[in-house]
Amino acid sequence: MTVKKPQTGDLDPIETASRDEISALQLERLKWSVRHCYDNVEPYRRKCLEKGVHPDDLKTLGDLGKFPFMTKLDLRDNYPFGLFAVPRTQLARLHASSGTTGKSVVVGYTRNDIDNWASVVARSIRAAGGRPGDMVHVAYGYGLFTGGLGAHYGVERAGCCAVPISGGQTEKQVQQIMDFRPEIIMVTPSYSLVIAEEFERLGIKPEDISLKVGIFGAEPWGQGMRSEIERKLGIDAIDIYGLTEVMGPGVASECIETKDGPVIWEDHFYPEIIDPDTGEVLPDGEEGELVFTSLTKEAFPVIRYRTRDLTRLLPPTARSFRRIDKITGRSDDMLIIRGVNVFPTQIEEQILRDKRLAGTYQILVSRDGHLDNVEVRCELQRELSGRLAPNEIQAIGKELQHRIKTIIGISTRITLMEHDSIPRTLTGKAKRVLDERPKQN
Ligand code: DLL
Repeated sequence: MTVKKPQTGDLDPIETASRDEISALQLERLKWSVRHCYDNVEPYRRKCLEKGVHPDDLKTLGDLGKFPFMTKLDLRDNYPFGLFAVPRTQLARLHASSGTTGKSVVVGYTRNDIDNWASVVARSIRAAGGRPGDMVHVAYGYGLFTGGLGAHYGVERAGCCAVPISGGQTEKQVQQIMDFRPEIIMVTPSYSLVIAEEFERLGIKPEDISLKVGIFGAEPWGQGMRSEIERKLGIDAIDIYGLTEVMGPGVASECIETKDGPVIWEDHFYPEIIDPDTGEVLPDGEEGELVFTSLTKEAFPVIRYRTRDLTRLLPPTARSFRRIDKITGRSDDMLIIRGVNVFPTQIEEQILRDKRLAGTYQILVSRDGHLDNVEVRCELQRELSGRLAPNEIQAIGKELQHRIKTIIGISTRITLMEHDSIPRTLTGKAKRVLDERPKQN
């Protein structure tokens, strides 16, 4: 087995630096990042002017609180490239994730950005116990999603060998793990359990699986799931956090020796916790919404980006950087379905495209074994209600299901109902989302 606990000598010096050294580096980089964004991203400069702040006002880390936030709405309003801080010719790559409606969130990277990203993911792999020479089975999706390629470049940077299998085809995943004998797997926690079940089905015991470590993220998961994954695959399960807008996977990642929450790579990403209602900055330890400012990003700098993830900042333990606690929820209505981010408004948009359907709908999310299931209930328009043959109703459902699959990327079961079947609340509105998945703890 080549997976080892990290030695201090394996770490980047900043990972064990003093708080003063970290703060000094952060302040220097923060000044650069805010000015870079102000000088090159016109919509952000406008926001600063409206708020009456200027990069010269940033003298201490605390001064960041005077600056305006960035949100998903800013990305939508400036789709696709309006918030980029470099000309198109300097871009090395684009990635994208779900927006609240049809337009996705698009982010760009320069070569330096890709380089920094690879180094924070490599650092995350080291923190998880990975070492040069290890083989890493990357089952995050490759493509516009940041998971696959983000992990991949980090694996190579860490001196490991990447197996870019991407997501899906569970039987093939299992076959390849048995044949290639990787030490590490990178995948969403829920899909790792589907893989584990396939091992079980084949009668392969955890001790006969080569994997030693799994690096799991892209969706919330709790201690219960950690124990289950560890038991079923015979591995250490490590939590990696990130989001497209800030970089992708590797904004924060857990250390194998403590497993006490992802360590924020604070030399690249400056965290704040705010009250989601007032925007006020909260002290470390208090739960609120996580906000990030990028410190080194060139193509797509983010200043005070509101992640909508609810958590708290925890003091340093295995490294000198602060950690985040488990994500306990979101301050918006985004759902994560089998690792895919979905906004109810995206589904609504597809329903409303069909004039035979009324605007009332319900999204029911449940968990079947380890995987999420989505049922979309919608109603026929009043004038069609009771007038269509079953095969006509079925055809409408099939069309909607197909559109949701091809445009949003999730499989759903569609239940078409007669007009006025979905119960309304006292205000006349239907409760849009019923999430019946067990709460992660
Ligand atoms: O999910 C990036 C990623 C890929 C992270 C692979 C880790 C591993 P997005 O698709 O933009 O990016 O989704 C970001 O996913 O705001 C959280 O709500 C959620 N999320 C990501 N990692 C975790 C985690 C990628 N470890 C959104 N725990 C974030 C809980 C997570 N939630």
